[in-house]
Amino acid sequence: MVNKFLFLGLLETRSDGVKMPLHEVIRNLKGYINFLKESDFILLEEKKRRRAPAEKQASHTSPKSHPTEMASKVEALKKVADSIAVCTSCRLSLGRINTVPGDGHPLTRVVFVGEAPGYHEDQQGLPFVGRAGKLLERLLAGIGLMRQEVFICNVMKCRPPENREPLPDEILACEPYLLKQIDILKPLVICALGRLATHILLRTNAGINTLRGRFFPYHGILLIPTLHPAALLRNPIQLPDVERDFKLLSAKLKEITGQNV
Ligand code: URA
Repeated sequence: MVNKFLFLGLLETRSDGVKMPLHEVIRNLKGYINFLKESDFILLEEKKRRRAPAEKQASHTSPKSHPTEMASKVEALKKVADSIAVCTSCRLSLGRINTVPGDGHPLTRVVFVGEAPGYHEDQQGLPFVGRAGKLLERLLAGIGLMRQEVFICNVMKCRPPENREPLPDEILACEPYLLKQIDILKPLVICALGRLATHILLRTNAGINTLRGRFFPYHGILLIPTLHPAALLRNPIQLPDVERDFKLLSAKLKEITGQNV
């Protein structure tokens, strides 16, 4: 209301009754627009345009998504997490502090799948929160993404003792949870983090260096393997390779959706 009156006031005839020349009206209008730019009104509009990451819909989230889709995905993901929380299908349930179902944006188009929770993840019930997680966040930032905009999880939802590799029967017991999550999220691209996640998902024993940076079909979804961030911490010489893989992922999303990440 206040803005409207100010606007009308700017267009009024001057107090001496003389009509304002057009250039003066234009100058006043420019001043008014500048005023709006600095006011809450424009800030609100800006806020709508530059939506918060959780609401942002670039190529990493679904453009057709609407609140009910969001709500149903949240609910479905929670159901999976609830099942994981009480799972006793394998011996890993005996040693866990917390289950680690995964975490991220329900409408994302990109899912990152690691191997299994480590010490910090087990403590907090969240994936990739240790040093490897920090590096993963840096790699995501390199392609303009924040971890809240994607979904991050592991093949295994419980920490193996002393971070040993999961055994075949443990993988068999846990994999359905991941498949269910992927079925709910319906991402356009999955990134397998590391040799083990790649081998489990693609049912291959080929070397990670021959697999990384290429796209493979996985249940109708494109899957790109890359090196595990923990492996990179041990051997940073391959960091540029992984950065390239992330750029490939980003370019693929752009190619599919026509949008920038
Ligand atoms: N390594 C993984 O594979 N997953 C995590 O969540 C943390 C470290």
